Amino acid sequence: MLNWEDPISALKSKPTPHFDPQVAGLAAEAVADTASQAAPAPAAVEMPQFTPRVTVGTDANGEQHGVTGLEEVEFGAHRLSVDDKRMINCRADVNQLVPFKYQWAWQKYLDACANHWMPQEINMNADIALWKDPHGLTEDERLIVKRNLGFFSTADSLVANNLVLAVYRHITNPECRQYLLRQAFEEALHTHAYQYCVESLALDEAEIFNMYREVPAVHDKSAWAMRFTNSLGDPNFHTGTYDADQRLLRDLIAFYVVFEGIFFYVGFVQVLSMGRRNKMTGVAEQFQYIMRDESMHMNFGIDVINQIKIENPQLWTAAFRDEMTRLIREGVELEVRYARDTMPRGVLGLNAAMFEEYLHFIANRRCAQIGLPEQYPGATNPFPWMSEVIDLKKEKNFFETRVTEYQTGGALSWD
Ligand SMILES: [Fe+2]
Ligand SMILES: [Fe+2]
Repeated sequence: MLNWEDPISALKSKPTPHFDPQVAGLAAEAVADTASQAAPAPAAVEMPQFTPRVTVGTDANGEQHGVTGLEEVEFGAHRLSVDDKRMINCRADVNQLVPFKYQWAWQKYLDACANHWMPQEINMNADIALWKDPHGLTEDERLIVKRNLGFFSTADSLVANNLVLAVYRHITNPECRQYLLRQAFEEALHTHAYQYCVESLALDEAEIFNMYREVPAVHDKSAWAMRFTNSLGDPNFHTGTYDADQRLLRDLIAFYVVFEGIFFYVGFVQVLSMGRRNKMTGVAEQFQYIMRDESMHMNFGIDVINQIKIENPQLWTAAFRDEMTRLIREGVELEVRYARDTMPRGVLGLNAAMFEEYLHFIANRRCAQIGLPEQYPGATNPFPWMSEVIDLKKEKNFFETRVTEYQTGGALSWD
């Protein structure tokens, strides 16, 4: 049995398997024959010290260089140091994880792995019974569940595509890319979770998955975000110029701060409020895990944005700051409209005015986190319980149904 507390020592204590051709079913002559045909060992050749060095950007001939790290591996170059590493337009090899420059990125990768979960591990039986019961939920409560599954099921695919096809290419730091790979997988898990809810409740899949084409409040948020992935996903787009670097920074703010940091929060509050009232607890638990992941995605994105600002202060002009402030305000307006659309009347002790206040409160925090002035002075948090649920250090599930911290690897047996 593998010892998860100390897997290395446990494996080292096992005897190394010995290859015996007789036991393996090979005749002794066949083994000898193979050995006699083997080529003579070549004379030892002294290899040059292999230290790759890569350049990224546009050269004097206008040619683009290096995003995979494989284009220009230079033999004999000096060893990689942290000073060579940069968040964008990196001058160092992106295949070399260490030495770490951004320890926080590696730590977030480790924390994300420690929070691993799978959608099908959450019991949906109570939700299925409640959904089937004609008196189980009001029409307003059903609308909240369906609208949010409709928005999130396509939104998380949009985020995943943006990460893999656009962001990953332009962030030229290996420890950040390591986190981006983990984030991309988590986005796949989130889409999986929404599909799992839709399937469990036997909802009309076409209705849910087409909402972003057919329901204005859902469509408008996704359409707003598409503007900020088209440019990055363009194969002819490259960073390395002032305009391109500023465009990358703008698109990162649109995705990490507005899309993942504002557009998700009405849905999170609504669904978690149902769970707090012991309704749709399986769906709410799925959303709770997702929100925990999303909170880390946003904080990672904010760290990346701030690091790009530190390394490229020329990008953070007054005009650019005004433009970013406008983006955040636009995001708040769209999300307020989404709150009204999903909640035409008060439900679950919530109403659209409370959401407007909440969105002003979190938008102030987002602004402060990336160094912009707060836009909604005096806004307060009408849902203080949300901060407790987001807090990653809380190991006990909000609904007291299970412990959220676990290692799925513990179920494996190597014997
Ligand atoms: Fe997600
Ligand atoms: Fe995310």
